[in-house]
Amino acid sequence: MLVSGAGTNLQALLDACADPGYGAAVVAVGADRGEIPALDRAAAAGIPTFVHRVSDFPSRPGWDAALTAACAEHEPDLVISAGFMKLVGGIFLDRFGDRFINTHPALLPSFPGMHGVRDALAHGVKLTGCTIFLVDEGTDSGPIIAQAAVPVHDDDDEPALRERLQQAERALLVQTVGRMVSEGWSVQGRKVRIGR
Ligand code: GAR
Repeated sequence: MLVSGAGTNLQALLDACADPGYGAAVVAVGADRGEIPALDRAAAAGIPTFVHRVSDFPSRPGWDAALTAACAEHEPDLVISAGFMKLVGGIFLDRFGDRFINTHPALLPSFPGMHGVRDALAHGVKLTGCTIFLVDEGTDSGPIIAQAAVPVHDDDDEPALRERLQQAERALLVQTVGRMVSEGWSVQGRKVRIGR
């Protein structure tokens, strides 16, 4: 899993993986920065971690290659970006593009980017949600795997809406990853289907 911050999605998956019936295991956690709660959560669960900061590399492709190699070392079936706030490059996508998934706190293709919760609230939508999708070269533009809708309440501020969204997001991520790992998935154009 790739993380940049609080790691509440990581924690939800770690908790799910504690049940052998879930059928998946987190093999490693990578970050683009150190000293974040997500890395503490991984360490507490005994999961190997690595940190590659963009600023540690002379070029962005150099960082991309190092991130790719660090992930590849653990031979993951799925790479999950859970609040990983960096766009990966072509080297990473060539290696993991068919199994690199991300979460976003809005119903894509509405409100992509860094401020999905704030932008939806500012637009005045009555319904927003969360999206799990396959990462492509664009920003939050890849084929959609799963979505859940979340209502916006009249008195919501950004933290209140974010909290409601993230609860739905964690549940959707756990459910979707569990299904992908046990049932497999296929992609035809923009259509992703879980199951054989
Ligand atoms: C999640 O809500 C995720 O959807 C969002 O960051 C949060 C990370 O939370 N990602 C994006 O906004 C990406 N554009 P976490 O660190 O507690 O899992």
